[in-house]
Amino acid sequence: MRSLIVGTGSYAPSRILTNAELEKMVDTTDQWIVERTGIRERHIAAPEEATSDLAYHAATRALEQARLDPKDVEMIVVGTVTPDMPFPSAAAVLQGRLGNKKAFAFDVSAACAGSLYALSIADRYVASGAVKNALVLGADTLTRITDWTDRNTCILFGDGAGAVVLRPTDDPRRGIQSLHLHTDGATWPILHQPGGGSRHPISQKLIDDHSHFVKMNGREVFKIAVRALEDSSLEALAANGMTTGDVDFVIAHQANKRILDATLDRLEIPASKCWMNLEKYGNTSAASVPTTLDEANRAGWFKPGSSILVMAIGGGMAWGAGIIRW
Ligand code: COA
Repeated sequence: MRSLIVGTGSYAPSRILTNAELEKMVDTTDQWIVERTGIRERHIAAPEEATSDLAYHAATRALEQARLDPKDVEMIVVGTVTPDMPFPSAAAVLQGRLGNKKAFAFDVSAACAGSLYALSIADRYVASGAVKNALVLGADTLTRITDWTDRNTCILFGDGAGAVVLRPTDDPRRGIQSLHLHTDGATWPILHQPGGGSRHPISQKLIDDHSHFVKMNGREVFKIAVRALEDSSLEALAANGMTTGDVDFVIAHQANKRILDATLDRLEIPASKCWMNLEKYGNTSAASVPTTLDEANRAGWFKPGSSILVMAIGGGMAWGAGIIRW
């Protein structure tokens, strides 16, 4: 059996922060941001909106498309590094808000690769027959841990949530064919949030030092990202006896247009096959892949059997790629 995506949904908060507004907050320009990243604007969660709230809207849209009653979901996995609170999980809070009592629910922490990691776990449950209806999300409010005085990072991030519903299929030519995950834990210092965990618990000093915000070595992340996305994509293609010419569509984590252009270039896949939306959302972390999938799906890109190469990378560094047949 394979797990088939039978519904997708996404949600972006209504408040939009433009590059022009960022020009007033830090020493940057719209031109620099667009040229170096491709980002023009991003959505910011309202003060009363937390990650599970964004997830709730994405989930209800995906469930509606799948024509599935929220009460019938058996498993909820949320990829996130910004849960509503350290515990319980955003998935547990979401389960309660959906009025669901059946599903076991938990979060997966793999930063921007979170939704791919979550999808991989749910895929194993559904394809094995252990679960019939799984709800998988990527949801993050990264702007809550963004340092708005650091121009290296604050131009990149936005908030959002994306969701997919998985059900089993007997047709081996459809559904998730394989997902390949990797981690290089030795590289964690290049992208992390130092404070607020067990190593550096919350303190006044930590807050004064801005240690509760994301820290990033952009150049290093960039270099590793292109190589990792290329390697894992080739691994996923080889595992399915495919070459890049067999790829109908690419759904990729929207981190930076230049990272994606370089990766597609190396893979010799035309950029027209890759759905792009970072111009309007920025990097929404785990929300990025399912949001992008939802937009392409609702635009009518996919036909039954279409081959989709998915890829993502984030802090850890954690990354992966895979082949999905619609
Ligand atoms: N506006 C204007 N100038 C900026 C700037 C900003 N927002 N941010 C950095 N700069 C400056 C730097 O200070 C540097 O100036 P200097 O040469 O005087 O020191 C110059 O621009 C070049 O900085 P550099 O870091 O080399 O730029 P870059 O081309 O690598 O672009 C990123 C920076 C962050 C856009 C890029 O490295 C990147 O996208 N990395 C990957 C980040 C990412 O995707 N993270 C999430 C992964 S999931």
